[in-house]
Amino acid sequence: MYICLCNAISDKAIRNAVRQQNVRSIRELKNFVPVGSDCGKCVRQAREIINEEISSLPPIINVA
Ligand code: FES
Repeated sequence: MYICLCNAISDKAIRNAVRQQNVRSIRELKNFVPVGSDCGKCVRQAREIINEEISSLPPIINVA
């Protein structure tokens, strides 16, 4: 599903950025994809996708 219609950015592209590029915020996401660079209507939904994907990541287990 497209999240940013202006730049044809899908939810999958955002999820991949969270998982592969360690993206944790809209500001960091903009380093990899031009989300929100035109009309800006997609920013809120993109933020929700980032947070959703972060919460689905497995917890980091500290090994001493
Ligand atoms: S929908 Fe993303 S900038 Fe317009």
